[in-house]
Amino acid sequence: MTQDVQTASAVSPKPHVGPDDYPKMYEASVSDPDGFWGEHGKRIDWIKPYTKVKNTSFTPGNIDIRWFEDGTLNVSANCVDRHLETRGDQTAIIWEPDNPADPALHITYRDLHASVCKMANVLKDLGIEKGDRVIIYLPMIPEAAYAMLACARIGAIHSIVFAGFSPDALGARINGCDAKLVITADYAPRGGRETPLKSNTDTALLHCKDSVNCLVVKRTGGQTTWTDRDHDCNALMAEAAPECPVQVMNAEDPLFILYTSGSTGQPKGVVHCTGGYLVYASMTHEIVFDYHEGDIFWCTADVGWVTGHSYIVYGPLANGATTIMFEGVPTFPDAGRFWEVCAKHKVNQFYTAPTAIRALMGAGSEWVEKHDLSDLRILGSVGEPINPEAWNWYNDVVGKGKCPIVDTFWQTETGGHMLTPLPGASKLKPGAAQQPFFGVQPVVLEPTSGDIIEGNGVEGVLCIRDSWPGQMRTVWGDHERFEKTYFSDYKGYYFSGDGCRRDEDGDYWITGRVDDVINVSGHRMGTAEVESALVAHAKVAEAAVVGYPHEVKGQGIYAYVTLMQGEEPSDDLRKELEKWVRTEIGPIAKPDLIQWAPGLPKTRSGKIMRRILRKIAEDDFGALGDTSTLADPSVVDDLIANRMNRS
Ligand code: WTA
Repeated sequence: MTQDVQTASAVSPKPHVGPDDYPKMYEASVSDPDGFWGEHGKRIDWIKPYTKVKNTSFTPGNIDIRWFEDGTLNVSANCVDRHLETRGDQTAIIWEPDNPADPALHITYRDLHASVCKMANVLKDLGIEKGDRVIIYLPMIPEAAYAMLACARIGAIHSIVFAGFSPDALGARINGCDAKLVITADYAPRGGRETPLKSNTDTALLHCKDSVNCLVVKRTGGQTTWTDRDHDCNALMAEAAPECPVQVMNAEDPLFILYTSGSTGQPKGVVHCTGGYLVYASMTHEIVFDYHEGDIFWCTADVGWVTGHSYIVYGPLANGATTIMFEGVPTFPDAGRFWEVCAKHKVNQFYTAPTAIRALMGAGSEWVEKHDLSDLRILGSVGEPINPEAWNWYNDVVGKGKCPIVDTFWQTETGGHMLTPLPGASKLKPGAAQQPFFGVQPVVLEPTSGDIIEGNGVEGVLCIRDSWPGQMRTVWGDHERFEKTYFSDYKGYYFSGDGCRRDEDGDYWITGRVDDVINVSGHRMGTAEVESALVAHAKVAEAAVVGYPHEVKGQGIYAYVTLMQGEEPSDDLRKELEKWVRTEIGPIAKPDLIQWAPGLPKTRSGKIMRRILRKIAEDDFGALGDTSTLADPSVVDDLIANRMNRS
């Protein structure tokens, strides 16, 4: 199904890219990347302008990615200082608190400048210098943005840990990047509940170097314990100077590290750098969301994920936009919250995840209809494929059929949008991520041979032929893992980990991960991480985790657990294991279903046959394929007989 062409006038008075512009601009971006990006790189302010644009290699053994490599700049200057003269009194951030009875804050660019400078001075006083790593473990409060921009200002590298992660996950990330400081808050209110962030941090720090400091923001004023390494952020900021010079950064100096799940091992630290990332985040923000001066932009993500980095903070602020930071959840105090916030702040662009759309669709259209959404112009979707039913509801009920939906496919690794329709330029197809952004060269490969599949109406794995400015540069401290993860299965290409289809019109449809990464409510989770958490429990001998289709979450977590000899399965033990995983990783990793498995299907060489486990979890065991290579084929019958997900 193809939706009518969204005409330019339905979108905005003057879309940045019209239907005739896209093919020309795209062609220019891939035939002459130096010329194209050399021009578009100027959209941000450089201290020393670059003379070189692209210097990248996907050659095995020499994966090396540099953009604008001899230019210098500062991200904080671009997101804050450069707007002071023209829009100092304009709101930069609207902060909407968890509880709708509490007032929203409107933070102007001038206020933002003062707060970022104060925070930067506090960081300096705590001994943070250029290149040092700072962990940010905060609720969705303005201080999270101040902290990011303060780090950028002085050249420190931030690494945000989502406030829903457990102390263990936090500790692993503090140690993983050898951070000098953790910025946290007393509590994180969310959906009417409070997560004790400070106490989580104390627990995490038990396993970290004594020299790690902790800077604590007061959010609720609730009680916390105080140790020698703690510093009171509010008190220190109150005394700090509201001016702080910016550090001159090379385009290729790291801006942030963000840990993300892969198919094997522990989460890896994805490294993004200063110049290319900012150019890409700001350009995609402006073009994909058809952002215009004066628009109110709302991305509902958390800054703990890449979406929050690129489209709450860096992209919008580089463009001088008004960006909303929302502390709450879609369903608190009721299922009308998103729409109430859209109406209250006259939101023009609204960007959320399919899982939220499905949950709100389930709650009923009346929640939407209560609110005036007449300012909405563009709707966005991200994080997982959006099913046509949810797409249609989003389009009809939320957008009243007049707001183009941009279904943006991208990844933590890509820094910004990779495949997406452009409002005003594309015919929309529900469920399709459609076409590459400028400079992105998607290819479809045959999964086993790695051969390129040409033509339309084809399916395979999605790879990217050449670099784009927002691409990650390395895995923190492990360049070899970077090469191995993304460039070794299909030599000469960046491998996304996703499968895709190119339809008869040449539009791309993402079909989901082809590796052992599952996507739960739009959050990436490595099955290996959940497995290692489960087997760390004293009563668990072995565990295998797979995804299965879940109506609201997209995918749910299905765990097969083999207990230690002598342990008996019970509901209590099931609850204990669920709680255990929550504590080891965080609530988002809690298995939805746990099946007691006396044995797991293994090959004679001992490899778990996940394909079979996936089929059983999907309740689709009619087509298990060849099981004759299994060491003990009878375990499969037991797993089928006791499966949890019967339709
Ligand atoms: C999936 C989130 C289909 C995909 C920005 C990818 C999508 C993973 C879409 C990255 C989309 C993201 N359609 N699938 N529009 N957007 N994905 O790193 O599987 O948290 O590889 O980045 O989410 O998740 P990540």
